[in-house]
Amino acid sequence: MTPWWQEAVLYQIYPRSFADSDGDGMGDLPGITSRLDYVRDLGVDGIWVSPFYLSPMNDAGYDVADYRRVDPVFGSTADADALLRRAHELGLKVLVDLVPNHTSSEHAWFQAALAAGPGSPERARYHFRDGQGRGGAQPPNRWRSVFGGPGWTRVVEPDGTPGQWYLHLFDVTQPDLNWEHPQVRAEFLDILRYWLDRGVDGFRVDVAHALVKAPGLPDYDDAPAAPLTAAGDERPPTHLAPMWDQDGVHEIYRSWRALLDSYGEPARILCAEAWVHPVERAMLYVRPDEMHQSFAFDFLDTPWRAADLREVIAHDRHALASVGAAPTWVLSNHDVVRTASRLGLPAGSPRPNGLGPRSSVRPDPGLGLRRARAAATLMLALPGAAYLYQGEELGLPDHLELPDEVRQDPVWVRTEHRELGRDGCRVPLPWVGDAPSLGFGPSERTWLPQPPEYAALAVDQQVGRPGSTLELYRRLLTLRREHGVGSAALTELTGYGDEVIAYRLDGRSGALAVVVNLGASGVELPGGSTLLVASDPLVAGRLPTDTAAWLLLAEAP
Ligand code: GLC
Ligand code: MG
Repeated sequence: MTPWWQEAVLYQIYPRSFADSDGDGMGDLPGITSRLDYVRDLGVDGIWVSPFYLSPMNDAGYDVADYRRVDPVFGSTADADALLRRAHELGLKVLVDLVPNHTSSEHAWFQAALAAGPGSPERARYHFRDGQGRGGAQPPNRWRSVFGGPGWTRVVEPDGTPGQWYLHLFDVTQPDLNWEHPQVRAEFLDILRYWLDRGVDGFRVDVAHALVKAPGLPDYDDAPAAPLTAAGDERPPTHLAPMWDQDGVHEIYRSWRALLDSYGEPARILCAEAWVHPVERAMLYVRPDEMHQSFAFDFLDTPWRAADLREVIAHDRHALASVGAAPTWVLSNHDVVRTASRLGLPAGSPRPNGLGPRSSVRPDPGLGLRRARAAATLMLALPGAAYLYQGEELGLPDHLELPDEVRQDPVWVRTEHRELGRDGCRVPLPWVGDAPSLGFGPSERTWLPQPPEYAALAVDQQVGRPGSTLELYRRLLTLRREHGVGSAALTELTGYGDEVIAYRLDGRSGALAVVVNLGASGVELPGGSTLLVASDPLVAGRLPTDTAAWLLLAEAP
């Protein structure tokens, strides 16, 4: 028997933008609970809910001020319990988000560290250092923040003088914790216990590759971005940077795994958000005594080219199998331009951090949607687990015309407007084409404006409509379950040429094939096979460009 998590499809809910129950324009936990039937009907195995904890919301809740409290904007602890109960009634697993790399600057520990001053035990739980140069006016090293700008900020000491600096790999309000400190380790084990005891089925672990920093915080300049292609990964290995993928993180995950295992069966799980390459390093996170899953971000980042995708899929599968793990496929989340927009860009263009009216590249929306549908049809045919991001099942594009004044991602400000940031993929969902806030909530209010094209893509416009993206996802998820695709044996089918991806899948009931055509001309489907689903209609019996299909193969007599 394959353990549930090795073949599960999980649906990411971004609480601010899923459903609003009280009309304040911000999604909330009762909103999620009220729409869980929809998630169940989609045919997934569970949900991952992005952070809903007490937070000043400088990074949309990834800046946590109290890990055990629900932020009032999202509801109460009772609302979290109700969500869990309802999800479990519907047979859905629930993963919550754990943010261990940094706290909010409003967390009691950081406030205590500011008040206690240099050299205090309170400061030891973070990375405080004296500055360099005259009067310590220069940061301790050249590390940059992922969100732009320096990775260090200077504090004013309790006596009013300019003081020490603290490290923040993300926003200035997200101070990095010092994971060498035993209290930090103990506290997170306790936070895990708190949510496990409330009944959660697991955790998605935020920036899991950042917790441990190289001793002495050696200086480092960011490596320039390099493309990812079949010809070889030209990016320097992530762990050469002293803040990423350091060997010391694994000991932490082994201790968490032991705690989760003590809760027995069915397994409670850990899923790493680790942007780590090459895969020979990434796979270390899913060794048998560590995490259960780790997002295959190199799949997400691979250009829409058959040879590149084939290579990445094969490489990932092979590497993970060597540690006894299965891949966790993903195309989309709250940090990246939505697939329907991203795949409408020229293939091979670097993944932009946001798209807007003045971006140098503009997606072709028709092409993007077509490819996004084909990409999902490919992804859901791959053995292993997979994650969907709310709204991808509707084929939503990014909001490409967000006015600058409404942008909230700290990236926008910290890069001095060079990068737009991630607001475009975080827009509230359309549920009803013809309703205030497109049915997101009972009022007109939405924390980010919805683009006009979302009306036609609303759930009520797609449900039951043949050919809609929603019905495509439902069909794929039904077939995936019926045929046990998530735990099938995959073999490459040859003879289709360089621009086609074709696999045979031997699952629970017979042999399937998935064929994806990324070439210019139509592709003949295997003789005697029966078409189960296609991402777009066949043309004259052939699979057209940028289309994927699942087929039932005729058994040899
Ligand atoms: C992760 C989250 C992202 C957040 C960052 C800092 O990458 O997915 O949304 O901004 O961590 O917590
Ligand atoms: Mg609300």
